[in-house]
Amino acid sequence: MKGYIKHDEWRISEEGFHPDLQEVSESVFSIGNGYMGQRANFEERYSGQSLQGSYFAGVYYPDKTRVGWWKNGYPATFAKVINSTNWIGIDVTVNGTALDLATCHVREFRRVLDLRDGVLTRTLIATLPDGIKIAVETRRFVSMARPQIGALRYRVTPLAGDATITLTPYLDGDVSNRNSNHGEKFWDEVERFQQPHYALLTVKTNQLDVHVATAMTYQIASDHQLVDTAPTMAERDKYVAQTVTVKACKGAAVTIDKLVAGVTSRDHAPGTLAMTAHDLVCAANAAGFDELLAEQRAAWAAKWRDGDIVIEGDTAAQQGIRYAIFQLNQTYTGQDERLNIGPKGFTGEKYGGGTYWDTEAYCLPFYLATAPSAIARQLLLYRYRHLQKAKDNARQLGISRGALYPMVTMNGEECHNEWEITFEEIHRNAAIAYAIYKYVNDTGDQEYLDDYGLEVLIELSRFWAERVNYSEAKKGFVILGVTGPNEYENNVNNNWYTNRMAAWTLDYTLRVIAELQARAPERWSALSTRILWDEREAERWRQISAGMYYPIDEERRLFLQQDGFLDKEIIPASQLPPEELPLHQHWSWDRILRSCFIKQADVLQGLFFLGDQYDLDTKRRHFDFYEPLTVHESSLSPCVHSILACELGYGDKAYELYLRTARLDLDDYNNDTKDGCHITSMAGTWMALVYGFGGYRVRSGRVCLNPSLPTRWQSYAFKVLFRGARLCVTVRKNGVSISNEAEREIPICVYDRNYTLAGGSVLTIDLETGKERT
Ligand code: BGC
Repeated sequence: MKGYIKHDEWRISEEGFHPDLQEVSESVFSIGNGYMGQRANFEERYSGQSLQGSYFAGVYYPDKTRVGWWKNGYPATFAKVINSTNWIGIDVTVNGTALDLATCHVREFRRVLDLRDGVLTRTLIATLPDGIKIAVETRRFVSMARPQIGALRYRVTPLAGDATITLTPYLDGDVSNRNSNHGEKFWDEVERFQQPHYALLTVKTNQLDVHVATAMTYQIASDHQLVDTAPTMAERDKYVAQTVTVKACKGAAVTIDKLVAGVTSRDHAPGTLAMTAHDLVCAANAAGFDELLAEQRAAWAAKWRDGDIVIEGDTAAQQGIRYAIFQLNQTYTGQDERLNIGPKGFTGEKYGGGTYWDTEAYCLPFYLATAPSAIARQLLLYRYRHLQKAKDNARQLGISRGALYPMVTMNGEECHNEWEITFEEIHRNAAIAYAIYKYVNDTGDQEYLDDYGLEVLIELSRFWAERVNYSEAKKGFVILGVTGPNEYENNVNNNWYTNRMAAWTLDYTLRVIAELQARAPERWSALSTRILWDEREAERWRQISAGMYYPIDEERRLFLQQDGFLDKEIIPASQLPPEELPLHQHWSWDRILRSCFIKQADVLQGLFFLGDQYDLDTKRRHFDFYEPLTVHESSLSPCVHSILACELGYGDKAYELYLRTARLDLDDYNNDTKDGCHITSMAGTWMALVYGFGGYRVRSGRVCLNPSLPTRWQSYAFKVLFRGARLCVTVRKNGVSISNEAEREIPICVYDRNYTLAGGSVLTIDLETGKERT
């Protein structure tokens, strides 16, 4: 835990220059707008430790899979979102000496990311090696209102005497990924063009032929007067730059506004990219930095209006949850159905920017409750569009019917190559089925289910129906050779979660089919013909679901994580020596696999998803058994446990686990934030608050709440969008109030009592009695 980020309700701020933490800060202070994103690299050259990262969503590279021991079924490539043209760069010299903070004496360094508007600022005073002293102020954002636009303002002020300052804004496409195989480069130049105050660079990937054009304009002012001198232009392969020299008086600021447009061949024909980038940057230039900033503020204000959470009495927790909401909004905006959410968003290279089950299991609820339902729908359509590839994937693994979605993907194809994950972590299919259920349950969007969701469900069910086998010994259907959500076990038989969710998927699919057959037989008839439905499939699914085998310890009345789990030596994680944690960094994999220690929620993940099917006593028994064995070494772990702890009335435990998730990156708990922030676990943080403390669920078309208040907090308030209506829930020590900001009435249920909340009205419930206060 670093603890150098100051506690503040709306700002993430770093005081003092921390070169040793530079890569952590570059992750934490990242900015994005769903279309593109940027690590908090410095604009000026920096020779210290740094991971350069400018990313465009969906611009990826199929790097070759290189493993010593090839297994049949491995994908040939590992797709990764790649570092693209560096558009923020500005070289600065003062009296001929280059500004490089790694070689300067730096004072009064302050870096601030304002969560209200996504603007990143930096101020500092630097003494260069030859003794010249300057002040630097920078400000930049990627526009939420104009996704292709990045804007920055960079200001240098000589402090000790007059100085000659050169500013060289540039575009540099000669960039690489740290995680590329053997240091390979991904980009080739297509075109470069310059004229004074305008430059364009188009590059393309040497695989897949993805083109990215970046255009820049800039304006320089000295002491608030526009500098009109002609720049010196320089260029080389994949690089364009323009240098302007300014004589600045002591104390007079030299300011450059650099505006950039980035467009890709994902959205435009390659031949039109240069012109499109030109037109966009010219329009941005006509608006100017200040106008763009005003638009940015308005766009973010709308996001906060729908999705803010206010915590009183705990600034650290307030900052944590706002940071999570901010990152989720800047990672995914739902504007493009081809995009999804990588575990690191735009903040680093780890996980290659691919889509994991994290999206369905963790992220979907956030977008469902804080944005119009069309946004969450996009996440589901993403999987619909990949259905054929998921079927191909199942074939590749030797399954003749149905679909197996990849564990990691950019374009629908599997791009991960660890056998125990690629081939075995098949529970990901269940998360997709569950997400379909959840989306339809929360939104009531029957049309989506009829047109897309059901077809996906059927193919998922077909997969399970073939992946099981009947065991004579166990007199039931078994699922062999899997990895459950707890990745600290591989190649186990009958992971309870996987078996349970497979059976649940079959049941749910059968229910949806029956419902469609009754409501719109002609639609079912068209679908069933298209997918070559055979009525005998339904019968087999019923048999499998009814006959599914579950590992259970009758005596303890426990669902076992997998066959033979109790053969392990059961030792609470609290007895692990702290210096051996995290286990994956200290123990051999073999030792981890033999141990009882659990990486993340597994049986408990099932009890969370299917929460309405299990009573509190069952949940308590399993929580009490499994949580003490859990080391929470996946960032996705604490949130699920926190939610269950809330339900069970384990307030302190819920709060402890909540804090562990809420400030994971701000405090670099796991010592890995330099690789990027844990964006998908931030959705878990949001769930821990809204689903956990708030007890929010949608049941039978009704918003249900069961709030509790952590003792350290004075109050908290969150908003949810339910079928177009915004509800604000405030939980105070003495009561809960729910206001309906919509005009129509909303059926709600608070502490198991039903109410109808009229449009514009407020309901207040007494926390002592759980009853309405009049
Ligand atoms: C977790 C997986 C998760 C992945 C990406 C792993 O550490 O065990 O459940 O999908 O990270 O977040």
